Amino acid sequence: HFSMAPQGKYILYKGLLVPRETHSAESLKYAEEFKTRDDDVFAVTYPKSGTTWMQEILPLVLSGGDLSSVQSQPNWDRVPWLEETRAALVLDGRPAPRAMVTHLPLPLMPASFFKAKPKVIYVTRNPKDVVVSSFHFHQMASFLDDPGTFDEFLDKFLAGEVLFGKWTDHVKSWRSPEVQDRILYITYEEMLEDLRGAVLKFSHFLGKELSEETLTHIAEQCSFSSMKQNTMSNYSLVPKEFMDTSKSHFLRKGVAGDWKNYFSPEQETRFLAVYREEMKGVDFKSSWDE
Ligand code: A3P
Repeated sequence: HFSMAPQGKYILYKGLLVPRETHSAESLKYAEEFKTRDDDVFAVTYPKSGTTWMQEILPLVLSGGDLSSVQSQPNWDRVPWLEETRAALVLDGRPAPRAMVTHLPLPLMPASFFKAKPKVIYVTRNPKDVVVSSFHFHQMASFLDDPGTFDEFLDKFLAGEVLFGKWTDHVKSWRSPEVQDRILYITYEEMLEDLRGAVLKFSHFLGKELSEETLTHIAEQCSFSSMKQNTMSNYSLVPKEFMDTSKSHFLRKGVAGDWKNYFSPEQETRFLAVYREEMKGVDFKSSWDE
């Protein structure tokens, strides 16, 4: 009942490219028919914008700082992707509140999502840094297409011929008034600048009061350096044939502004022309488009 066509390493799902290694007809059907509950919590991201980070932060906030899940469960089971193959296995039996992540644009969310009132945290990252992070991810992950040169990959990104489509479409879809009453917007850059402050925001939004001490403890656990050492979060459990860490690490640099090391002035101009055109009239203030 939905269009699904194989495209090399990807599946074309309702016009969106998704990796075949992590998605299947069954998993996409599961997402489509998912029964959202009011107390579910979603972290929504365009790929490479801080998904793994949210998979570390959410369980800690929701459990009041209990480290057991981040120390014993890999991130993909701890806070699964709604649309990926592990979701059905781990979400169905899980007690409330269930935390999950998704890369789906708003129109592809399950019908139940619009009827229930789950809370949503939408993380946006400077799209120039997203392209750079994604470029490296495509080089190290064998289940993704070879990105070609950075210039070629940039063109694909701008055309939306990449996983989960165009960055601008994704961001715009989640600005819909339909979800304004239940969504918290945050940027990757704000989280980098003040992680403890971001955790405090999440705790207020999720109705979880945390002590000063717990806030500090969570922010420490979720720093780039601690996550890089956490085998349950750094993707070191994934065999080298799928993720080749001699090419790049999943937790690669964890900084803002790395795009400056990759974009030529001409590429920046090309990027901004598309970006400004597609974001015209959108009520979206970004720190990176000044
Ligand atoms: P880089 O490739 O720029 O280093 P996602 O999880 O959505 O795929 O995003 C991955 C990006 O988030 C990577 O960016 C990764 O390093 C970064 N990231 C993950 N955890 C982070 C943290 N605690 N602090 C800063 N960046 C983090």
